[in-house]
Amino acid sequence: MVRVPNPGRTPHRSLCMAASSASSAKRALLPWARNAHHALARALQGSGAGGSLHGAPLSTAAGGGRWSLLQCRRRSSLPQRDAADRSEPSDEDTGGDIDWDNLGFGLTPTDYMYVMRCSLEDVVFSRGELSRYGNIELSPSSGVINYGQGLFEGLKAYRTANRQGYMLFRPEENARRMQHGAERMCMPSPSVEQFVHAVKQTVLANRRWVPPQGKGALYIRPLLIGSGPILGLAPAPEYTFLVYASPVGTYFKEGLAPINLVVQDAFHRAMPGGTGGVKTIANYAPVLKAQMDAKSKGFTDVLYLDAVHKRYLEEASSCNLFIVKDGVVATPATVGTILPGITRKSVIELARDRGYQVEERLVSIDDLMGADEVFCTGTAVVVAPVSTVTYQGQRYEFKTGQDTLSQTLHMALTSIQKGLAEDKKGWTVAID
Ligand code: COI
Repeated sequence: MVRVPNPGRTPHRSLCMAASSASSAKRALLPWARNAHHALARALQGSGAGGSLHGAPLSTAAGGGRWSLLQCRRRSSLPQRDAADRSEPSDEDTGGDIDWDNLGFGLTPTDYMYVMRCSLEDVVFSRGELSRYGNIELSPSSGVINYGQGLFEGLKAYRTANRQGYMLFRPEENARRMQHGAERMCMPSPSVEQFVHAVKQTVLANRRWVPPQGKGALYIRPLLIGSGPILGLAPAPEYTFLVYASPVGTYFKEGLAPINLVVQDAFHRAMPGGTGGVKTIANYAPVLKAQMDAKSKGFTDVLYLDAVHKRYLEEASSCNLFIVKDGVVATPATVGTILPGITRKSVIELARDRGYQVEERLVSIDDLMGADEVFCTGTAVVVAPVSTVTYQGQRYEFKTGQDTLSQTLHMALTSIQKGLAEDKKGWTVAID
């Protein structure tokens, strides 16, 4: 176990401030942090102040003793990037024995991850650093484990055609979406600059894992989690932003071939007022049952309907949905239950650039059944053509292959992402 060095501060300084300084510090906190502060205090009072935290006795001593004696020692088993590790991996030094032609979407552990922390007293994230990729230590009572206080993002880095560098696709959009989600989940979030910096550092540190051109991408997974301990339901007192990466190929086992979806009308992915519109980790485990059922019956993935009318399309387990009818494109509007996908947003723009009318609206199951073409979009999925959708035992078929809009959009999007087409929109960010 290695402790993360925390320059510029007392290593074991409590997150839970001395009572005398607490009120002034509290005033400076953001609303989420103020609430968390109150809740933490309540939870601790309710606990009877007995027991210990990381072995430090809890006490009711006056004048801030109660808080200051809560030595919320922040320990971590994050493996560090030591001096021996600092030799830069070369481009030629590619990722081990990896079979670049059969990547799929499995996890291949890479060399480094980026970690940055923020406590209630810090209010903002600071001092992020790379460390060796490996297990992390979390309190059993951390907010993320107990109450699902967490968000994730997904983006890809591609090797540029001339092998001189790497390209990210709209990373600021991921950063902003994380900020929006953090607001909803009562978490502080990294600034856009911090987010993009962390992503770039992660790519550079793992550059031997970026697949050769045409073989896939380095999938980057930023996480924002409530890592601090909390027992009563409240925002965690400490947050961790962590970025790791894995080389990936196509998401579905079908590869680039069309996929087969089944409409789920018993389980729902999201509800009005819920968290469907943000990328919280809590949106994903609940779809596993439907996904497993669907896979066991030979379907690729599940298509969800709205929870109120059971009539309007929402999204698939891991991607947004589009239909095309008589040359008009429609996709469910992002009104809170649907994730505002970055690929979705880009594809809408690319389709409009090509003269298509694109409607963001309620899309009913009847609209779907009458569509000419159906496709899914997502960072992992890219643009995936749908060949069949099964609804209440009835199978509907759609156009796939050459001369489909999905194929045009797939080509247009991936050419920009890989640096094979001019990026007139300024969507790509080079890492040299
Ligand atoms: C992505 O497309 O990046 C996602 O986050 C979907 C995930 C379930 C693989």
